[in-house]
Amino acid sequence: MKNKISHHLFLALTAIFVLSCTSQTFDQPQEFATGFVSAETLNLGHDTYMQYCMQCHGVNGDGQGPAAQGSEPLPRNFKSGIFKFGSVSSGELPSDYDLKKTIRYGLRGTPMLPWDISNERLDAVVQYIKTFSPRWKEEKPGTPQELTEDPWPAKGEGYKEMAILQGKKVYHGFAQCYTCHPSYASVEEINQYSKELTGNGVNSIRENPHLSTLLDSSHEVKIMPPDFTKNYIKTGGEISEIYRILGAGIGGTAMPAWKGLLSPKGDNAESEQNIWALSYYVNYLHGLKYDMKARKDFFTR
Ligand code: HEC
Ligand code: HEC
Repeated sequence: MKNKISHHLFLALTAIFVLSCTSQTFDQPQEFATGFVSAETLNLGHDTYMQYCMQCHGVNGDGQGPAAQGSEPLPRNFKSGIFKFGSVSSGELPSDYDLKKTIRYGLRGTPMLPWDISNERLDAVVQYIKTFSPRWKEEKPGTPQELTEDPWPAKGEGYKEMAILQGKKVYHGFAQCYTCHPSYASVEEINQYSKELTGNGVNSIRENPHLSTLLDSSHEVKIMPPDFTKNYIKTGGEISEIYRILGAGIGGTAMPAWKGLLSPKGDNAESEQNIWALSYYVNYLHGLKYDMKARKDFFTR
């Protein structure tokens, strides 16, 4: 009997010890550029991180947890303070909302799954990952870009086809997305689109234009831009999400921000219309990934 009591006491003490280890990581609030975060929140964030995130992102946030080996892409190294996805211009720190969105919805086709944790834990873990990089102490997140209204539906019947065609023209004839991503048009088509949009023709394009080109990044690895008909769009592939990505770019990678740049005349409304058109086009290409017959028809035309 005595033994049993001391055994229970031992277990209880161990539990208290373990709990106090995990919940006493912070005894002071931390100051970020946006203000103070309480020790209580950071301790909950730390507890959440150790349970769900540490395996990949590492105890020190360096992206080298035990499950990171062989991961493609690699888990984010939070010490770098560089993030890919957000509603801010690429290169700026993402907002809390952006980080929460990534954690809630995950990044499709990568080991970063959607996390169904409580809102309280989600809020807390977002604050906790900021403790890994001094950047959050020095700099505020960027201002989220304005989401303009999609101008295409107002054009009436057949507007989707119109938008997709315009997107195809801009993709090949003006923005030259195919310098990194694959081309989905013939050299003749590209020449024609380029003449139409810029007045100048194109006689030749790079070798193997149907393949992406491997590019440098600030994420310690080279990155292959997706072939939209084959690879996943990490942020999901909905038209409005693609619009957001095109406006903002992808931080620390070669993928530029296109906001304001997609009008040959330098007209902002036209640029917006073209960004939306590209979003329809990329969404259409991505649809082929899920429709083998349509994909085959597309490539054997
Ligand atoms: C199974 C491995 C794995 C686990 C577990 C995991 N992640 Fe990730 N995470 C990744 C990978 C891989 C990426 C990089 C995706 C990329 O670069 O496209 C990533 C990226 C991220 C990003 C960066 C997004 C950006 O815009 O750069 C954040 C934030 C993030 N994870 C937070 C978390 C949090 C919080 C948890 C725990 C709740 C978690 N992750 C758990 C693998 C994981
Ligand atoms: C200079 C090279 C480069 C150019 C030009 C470029 N991209 Fe990208 N793009 C990338 C890279 C690299 C990635 C992959 C980033 C990652 O996931 O780490 C990417 C990713 C994307 C994604 C996927 C986003 C997601 O959520 O996974 C979309 C959509 C996209 N690009 C569209 C475009 C369009 C449309 C154009 C032309 C207007 C374009 N890109 C031009 C390099 C480029």
